Amino acid sequence: MRKFKVKVDREKCIGCGSCISVCPENFYFKDGKAEVKKEIITEKEYDCNLEAAELCPVDAISIEEIKNKENKE
Ligand code: F3S
Repeated sequence: MRKFKVKVDREKCIGCGSCISVCPENFYFKDGKAEVKKEIITEKEYDCNLEAAELCPVDAISIEEIKNKENKE
């Protein structure tokens, strides 16, 4: 199963909340800015996180695929 790393750049985040409305599974407000619940997500959770990243007006959310031997099945 592919895995991805999700990050919120809290310097960029303006607290608009789109990520939280579209993907409450993995984003929540912490001190007025978004934070991820899980930094490492699986393929199943990817769509929701991607939607959040695409909706963010300041591109504060990044998603990167994790590539290493352990992920090869
Ligand atoms: Fe912040 Fe973007 Fe979410 S501005 S609250 S990371 S949609």
